[in-house]
Amino acid sequence: MIDYHHALRGAFFDITATVDSPDDIARHARYIEDGLLFIRDGHILSLSPWQEGEQYLNPAQGYRDLRGKLILPGFVDAHVHYPQTEMIGAFGEQLLTWLTNYTFPVEAQFGDPEYAAQIAQFFIDQLLSNGTTSALVFCTRHPESVEALFSAASRIDMRLIAGKVMMDRNAPDELTETAQQSYQQSRELIQRWHHRGRLGYAITPRFAPTSSPALLEAARQLREEFPDTWLHTHLSENQDEITWVKQLWPEHQHYLDVYHHYQLTGKRSVFAHGIHLEDEEWQCLHHSGSALAFCPTSNLFLGSGLFRLAQCWRSRVPMGIGSDVGAGTTFNMLRTLGEAYKVAQLQSYRLPACEAFYHATLGGARALCLEDNIGNFLPGKEADLVVIDPQVTPLQRLRISHCKDIYETLFALMTLGDDRNIVQTWVNGECAWRNETHT
Ligand code: GUN
Ligand code: ZN
Repeated sequence: MIDYHHALRGAFFDITATVDSPDDIARHARYIEDGLLFIRDGHILSLSPWQEGEQYLNPAQGYRDLRGKLILPGFVDAHVHYPQTEMIGAFGEQLLTWLTNYTFPVEAQFGDPEYAAQIAQFFIDQLLSNGTTSALVFCTRHPESVEALFSAASRIDMRLIAGKVMMDRNAPDELTETAQQSYQQSRELIQRWHHRGRLGYAITPRFAPTSSPALLEAARQLREEFPDTWLHTHLSENQDEITWVKQLWPEHQHYLDVYHHYQLTGKRSVFAHGIHLEDEEWQCLHHSGSALAFCPTSNLFLGSGLFRLAQCWRSRVPMGIGSDVGAGTTFNMLRTLGEAYKVAQLQSYRLPACEAFYHATLGGARALCLEDNIGNFLPGKEADLVVIDPQVTPLQRLRISHCKDIYETLFALMTLGDDRNIVQTWVNGECAWRNETHT
């Protein structure tokens, strides 16, 4: 008998090691059709086949019987904007006009702490009901927006990274600030929230076009003062954006060089998109240890372009999958992976299910430098997981009855699955959300 808080019985799938080549993922994939997972103090104690683990059960305490369900590590959303939740699916524009017409007016509301708290809680509920247990999140330039999000996440001890948007030009007056103000407010938020429980702070200049040299210098200074914070921004998403960056920053060799010059590349630096990168930029990402966030539904919705997954592997750049709501059209990682598959198809890259789920779990954790904390079921990891019912619709039942192994089932899930398949979401060793339509 061992001392545990929870024991879960069901089918488990995870990837047990990070890799540098997609060819290595299947070798580290683990599927236990009838497994037993022990959790204590928010951490994984062990995962084993039922026959091996059963002897350690405490008869008085028992276990949760989740047979028929598939249990995966919680999904990692490597790039998302919580204030944009209410404007998801706004019609008809590409990046720069979309920002002006839809995004900025919505973000202007987040100086109101009550409004920010309401949307922050709605956003966290969306993450959980979609099986996402960790995220790297943009707030707005208002410190109130960060307070609201971290407060909501800390109530369930979620591993969440977020930061105040830094922006001092080329945006409406109510959304801009001075570089000095931005520095000061970011600094106070870092001191208040970074490493509080499982929370982390990301220094968050929106992107080069809304940053002056003084603002990026402020970001550089913050990074120097707080070297274990994250850096979160956008990079090379849209051709008009890139042309604009060349006009605004003519002395720089390419887009990434603007950030690199201010020492904003490196480990724990996450750049969203990176669709139209030059060879030197891929090399710089690799050599600096920076990561990218691939946001397929957003890239298709805004007509931004196709992320080069094969090139990302070749350049050995860590990558996580982002929903990028509100340019992205879903919080759901299953649907996002289905769109990632199609983006890859358009470039003759075949994205297998085990690779897709790697990116959404351990690969995403690695992109955020959290692979020692989350991403799979190894002993000692934090117990963040999602319980999935792969067969909730007639079409899914028919399709899955014809799947011959776990990979076909996972692929059917990323093609046909959505939030209806999410049964429970566990955060830090406790069930934080359950779908009431499932018994
Ligand atoms: N680039 C700068 N800001 C944004 C944003 O809010 N969303 C997306 N998709 N790209 C951006
Ligand atoms: Zn974004």
